[in-house]
Amino acid sequence: MEKTEIRTIESFGSACTRALGRRFGQAAKPGLVIALSGDLGAGKTVFAKGFAEGLGISAPITSPTFTLLQIYESGRLPLCHMDAYRLEEEEELEAVGGHEYFGAPWVTLVEWPENVAGLLPPETLWIRLERDYGKGPEYRKITLTGEVPDESAGD
Ligand SMILES: Nc1ncnc2c1ncn2[C@@H]1O[C@H](COP(=O)(O)OP(=O)(O)OP(=O)(O)O)[C@@H](O)[C@H]1O
Ligand SMILES: [Mg+2]
Repeated sequence: MEKTEIRTIESFGSACTRALGRRFGQAAKPGLVIALSGDLGAGKTVFAKGFAEGLGISAPITSPTFTLLQIYESGRLPLCHMDAYRLEEEEELEAVGGHEYFGAPWVTLVEWPENVAGLLPPETLWIRLERDYGKGPEYRKITLTGEVPDESAGD
């Protein structure tokens, strides 16, 4: 299967990105892995906060930069929120058992996924947040990329 750009969404403020995250959290199924990619301050954690709300998690979501991962079990599905910003080698995630959260019953969000790209399952949904200063400080272009089953397969 090929990685395909599924769609592009424009966000005009953090409330918009958070609402998008909430929708994904509401629809999430066990085993979902979302790679949240984008520069510092792009809005990855804002999306994660909305996603957690969508799962019904009431605990505040904080950036797990120093802890590498944070587990929330009070929602509809258990959530693992990872931040690989400080990771220098993928093996560091394996050393703490982080890769075990890629799969059911967990749903997992990964900030700085480029640092653990080799460990992510192939069905990972990539969500990239990008600024465009020409469109103002609150603008983000959000691009969804993932594997789409090849409909011609088996023909
Ligand atoms: N459209 C937008 N979407 C998301 N955040 C926005 C938007 N416009 C402005 N912001 C602001 O940008 C900041 C995003 O911070 P956030 O912590 O989510 O970034 P991050 O991508 O997780 O960064 P880091 O790599 O440091 O973890 C927040 O202060 C938020 O209010
Ligand atoms: Mg963050």
